[in-house]
Amino acid sequence: MAATGHNPSPQDAPHAAVTSVTASSQSAPDIARGARRVRVHHLQRAKERGEKITMLTAYDAPTAALFDAAGIDTLLVGDSIGNTMLGHATTLPVTLDDMVRAGRAVSSGVQRAFVVVDLPFGSYEAGAEQALASAVRVMKETGASAVKLEGGRRSADQIRAITRAGIPVVGHLGYTPQSENALGGPRVQGRGDDAAEDLSQDALAVQEAGACAVVLEMVPADLTARITEFLAIPTIGIGAGTAADGQVLVWTDMAGMTDWSPRFARRYAELGAALRQAAADFAADVRTGGFPAAEHAFDA
Ligand code: KIV
Repeated sequence: MAATGHNPSPQDAPHAAVTSVTASSQSAPDIARGARRVRVHHLQRAKERGEKITMLTAYDAPTAALFDAAGIDTLLVGDSIGNTMLGHATTLPVTLDDMVRAGRAVSSGVQRAFVVVDLPFGSYEAGAEQALASAVRVMKETGASAVKLEGGRRSADQIRAITRAGIPVVGHLGYTPQSENALGGPRVQGRGDDAAEDLSQDALAVQEAGACAVVLEMVPADLTARITEFLAIPTIGIGAGTAADGQVLVWTDMAGMTDWSPRFARRYAELGAALRQAAADFAADVRTGGFPAAEHAFDA
């Protein structure tokens, strides 16, 4: 297990404007048992106690504050920011600067959640030295609690170097979007005996290198169950069945922000439709003189 250290500001001095929503109730059970912050040992203890870990992506301060107030245990500043927020077709163009800016914003909106920032494509593949430099920059400039990177055995040296520096690392196996060109697009990984064995070896390598948790994306449910059983560290699934120690969704899929959502996601709201309607209502009011009203104007 990687050690975790105290993260100073901005987490300890969150932005006043966005933390005003954090007073609402949190859903039980609380994997941190009322501790002020969720920390790496709480994730490990949750696995040992069979308590499910919750994770959502977040890319900005106000959304992070809402999810934190809802009691989400871990927020992932995913490089999915590329597709969901920055208008890219894939995660590949996302830069370390993009991740640092988003990571800082998310950390500033959070009081309790464990914040994980993705290392983007091109920021760690060259080797341990590059990976450590990228991870150190993320930790210094964002106030996050951990970084995440993709790959199993091929990324073990990088994970080892980062964890030895005292930075918790979350691994990412199965469908790894930064390799989408090599994998042939979003496809289930680990089907068949050889592929399952390969993925299992990768999971062991990630754990042995010191990762504190591993995301399993688009992995057959029974393979997730096997990996979750033999790993000591928590698994967090996305399209990986029910057996993982936790579940993560991209928040825009979870909240129904667009018409499309992947088969493995559940839409818990229709925020896209609600937002479009709110914008249409505003436009109609402006055009018909319904907004602004007298109470929105200032006296001389
Ligand atoms: O970037 C991301 O959102 C992710 C999740 C899909 C796990 O890596």
